[in-house]
This record gives sequence, structure tokens and C-alpha cells, in this order.
Amino acid sequence: MKIYKDFSKGNKVTLYNGDCFDLLKTIPDDSIDLVITSPPYAMNRSYEKASDDVNTFIDQHKLLLPEVNRVLKKGGSICWQVGYFVENKVIVPLDVHIFNIIESLNINLDKEDKFYLRNRVIWSFGHGLNSKLRLSGRHETILWYTKGNEYDFNLDEIRVPQKYPGKTHYKGPKKGELSGNPLGKNPTDVWDIPNVKANHVEKTVHPCQFPIAIPQRLIKALTNKGDTVLDPFNGVGSTGVATIIEGRKYVGAEIDKEYYELSKNRFKDIQKGTIRIREDKPVLKPNKKSKVAIKPKHFL
Ligand SMILES: C[S@@+](CC[C@H](N)C(=O)[O-])C[C@H]1O[C@@H](n2cnc3c(N)ncnc32)[C@H](O)[C@@H]1O
Repeated sequence: MKIYKDFSKGNKVTLYNGDCFDLLKTIPDDSIDLVITSPPYAMNRSYEKASDDVNTFIDQHKLLLPEVNRVLKKGGSICWQVGYFVENKVIVPLDVHIFNIIESLNINLDKEDKFYLRNRVIWSFGHGLNSKLRLSGRHETILWYTKGNEYDFNLDEIRVPQKYPGKTHYKGPKKGELSGNPLGKNPTDVWDIPNVKANHVEKTVHPCQFPIAIPQRLIKALTNKGDTVLDPFNGVGSTGVATIIEGRKYVGAEIDKEYYELSKNRFKDIQKGTIRIREDKPVLKPNKKSKVAIKPKHFL
């Protein structure tokens, strides 16, 4: 699998080591089917400046979202995964800012180019910092918008098992027939998917990867084979891994050389069959032999 540095429509994989704005300039209008990303949001990470704050995030998105709209095809989707900015014990939900920026952007767009919000997915996870000052944060959000009002949504691709798969209608003309869809149920807008912490099989040196299961669900639902997926903040390529596995074309930009190189290795691992992925299951099967599953005596 060849990994191209510069964008061209026919490339199966393009990975640009540099600023996403420079990559975007090279992408023609109406080239991309889906954008999935988790942007930096002033969390004091190594790839951010100490002076970055919520205004840095807002200013960057005011420039970025019009460019994303330009490169996106009509009927395409964007999925923006963000959490909260925290300062002086005050939390700021960043998706509210994305929403406001898109509302302003829409004012100057034609009807068929406007972004329309379809879902605000709550991504919940079990692990994180424990707070003594407020409830411990255990969710972030994903805003899913489409460009224009006509779009594909492949629900059957992302159905999850029914709670009671064998349940039947107990009366009426359908008595005895299955009452739920045999393909499974709609996964809803609340996704319980473990975040990538120390023991997660997908963990790399990157401080804030999202699990491959997130872009994988979005790609299956919102694109078809051969479509093109863009992540302007590639990180260690979790969107790219999901994209390649699902047989779509990938375009990513990553400013940090180390994460760029790591992404290339992960993409090559797919071909070698050595890529490490946690299957998209809400919880792992309980392991009775595990010491942490047994209640210590002093808890009685
Ligand atoms: C929140 S992380 C994304 C992690 C990614 N979702 C993953 O699972 O690996 C944001 C990434 O954006 C990169 N980045 C920051 N500013 C950038 C820019 N202007 N252009 C391209 N990449 C940038 C950072 O180095 C960081 O790796």
C-alpha cells in the first residue's frame, strides 16, 4: 500500500506531514465524502501552545469550517468529536462553539451547501480523572452534520444486538413473529465505547487518541466503499485505520512528525495483519479469574 504525501483524487491513502490548512488548499472543491476529526482544544498537550485557550479553538474553527465545507461533496457529512475546555474550575462544552460557528457560516451558504445537524452523539466511557469538585466527566460529544438535505445513512451497517433478540409479538396479527429487527437495533445517539487509556490494546504514545470503533461506525453508516474520508487532525491515524479497513480512501494531515510516522506504521500493520484493534463491543466479557473482579475482604 503506497502512502502519498500530496493529495490526488485517485490515491488510496494520502498522509500529509504538516498543517491541515496547507493540505486543504491542495484539495479541489467537492472532493471529500466524510470528514471525521477530533481537533486540538487547548488541553496543554505537547502539540499545543501554552497560550492556547478557547479563543484559539474558536478562531481556528472559524477559518477551518468554511474550508471543510468547500472540499466536502454535497450530501457528504462531517463528524466533529470534542469534549470540554476546563479553566479555573469552569467547564466550556466545545460543541456549543462548533454549533455557533456553523450557524454563522450557514448564513452565507446556499441551501444545498449549508450544514444540517443530524445527531449530537454522546460518547460515554468508563475511565478518566476523578473530580472532587464536581461530577467526574465521563462523556464527550460527536456532532454529525450533512452538507445539504439529501444524504445516505446506512443504518443496517451499524445495528447492534437487540437486548432480547428472540422476543416476539405476544398478541395481534403478528403474534409469534419477532418483534425486533433481526439485524439488530439502532445504536442510538449514546455510544458506550471504552476510551483509549493505558491498558487499551490500541494505545500508542499519543495522549488523546480516540478508539478506532468510533470512526469505524461513522464510516460504515455515512459512506460507501471507495468513498473518501478526511481527518485534518490525524493524530496517530485512528480515522485512517478505520477508513482503510472499511475499503474507503483516506486523506489525513498531522503536524507532528512522530505521530505522522506512527500513523504510517499503523497503516502498514493493517496489511501485515498485525494492527491492534479493540472490537466494537460495549463491554468486555467479565473474566472471573481476574483479581480485579473479586471484591477485596475489607470492602465488606
Ligand atoms: C486530538 S489529536 C487527534 C487524535 C486522533 N483522533 C487519533 O485518534 O489519533 C489532534 C492532533 O492534531 C494535530 N494537530 C494540531 N494542529 C494541527 C494542524 N494545524 N494541522 C495538522 N495537525 C495538527 C496534533 O499534533 C494532534 O496529534
